[in-house]
Parts: sequence; C-alpha cells; structure tokens
Amino acid sequence: MEKTLILIKPNAVQRGLIGEIIARIERKGLHITGLKMMQLDDTILNEHYAHLSERSFFKILKDSMMVTPVVAMCVEGLDAVETVRLMVGATNARKALPGTIRGDLSMSGEQNVIHASDSVENAQAEVKRFFSENEIFSYESAITAFEYGGEERAKM
Ligand code: PPS
Repeated sequence: MEKTLILIKPNAVQRGLIGEIIARIERKGLHITGLKMMQLDDTILNEHYAHLSERSFFKILKDSMMVTPVVAMCVEGLDAVETVRLMVGATNARKALPGTIRGDLSMSGEQNVIHASDSVENAQAEVKRFFSENEIFSYESAITAFEYGGEERAKM
C-alpha cells in the first residue's frame, strides 16, 4: 500500500491544531501507520530540505521547523501521496482552496501548518528519513470493504 509522510509543523503545534489535522486524515479514510512527536535539528532539516538549499528562505524555513517539536506521521492508502497533497493545498496558504488543510487553517506560505511528500519517490525517502522500520505498523483494516470498491481493493 502506498505510504506518504506528513509533518505537522511547529506553527500548528503552537496553535493547537494537531488534533484537527489528524482528524481530517482519519476522516478521509487514510490509515495512520506511524505517528510520533520529534524535535528536528539542522542535520535532518539539511537533508529534508536539500533541494531548497539555494533558496533565500532556506534558513528561515529550517529555523521555523525547530521552534517546537513536530508531529511526524506515516499515512497509508490507495494513491496516498497524491490524495494527501490534494488535501493539503497550495504552498501559499492564502491561495490554497477552501476545504484544504492550508486553505482552512493558514494565511502563510511559511507558517503553513503541514508538510506532505510531493511524489511517490520522495515519499519513500521521507518515510525512511523520519521513521525506522520498527516504528511503522502495518495492520489489517477491519473496514477496507467499506472504504474502497472491489476494483480499488484489487489494486492494493
Ligand atoms: S517553491 O518555491 O516551489 O520551491 O516552494 P515549494 O516547493 O512549494 O515549497 C517548499 C517548502 O518551502 C516552504 N517555503 C517557504 N518557507 C519560508 N519562507 C518562504 N518564503 C517560503 N516559500 C516556500 C514551503 O512551506 C515548503 O515547505 P514544506 O515543508 O515542503 O511544505
């Protein structure tokens, strides 16, 4: 089953939005298979945001991710990467559509409450970056038949 990484950012932790964000993920029918709070440091952020190292906001972004611990989640579902990105909305939350997490909960492109992997390839690397193998729990869902249709279940 496809996995993706979500980080609930320090601004969401400060604003008391952890529960709201987790509830949206669960209500959608995505399954949480890894969940922990962790304090990020320069080492993991340099790796995680390596593709942004030349950007003017690189240090600001890293600093903003170390203000408090983040909540890291591994989430599973059919097409989980694309589905979560659609739920998250545009980077600049002022332009994110209403109904999306950023569109409903943020006004910022930096303090934008959540990170989510942007491709299947990056999701695999990001889940490995934030979780060890024994922190991911694969378990049978008792209600898959009520969450997906027959053709969809065949793809899982
Ligand atoms: S970009 O401009 O296309 O590279 O941006 P994007 O890939 O959508 O965003 C990558 C992450 O950079 C954060 N970001 C910023 N942080 C601070 N200041 C500014 N100006 C800024 N612009 C973008 C953005 O929130 C993304 O963080 P993650 O954690 O990946 O969601």
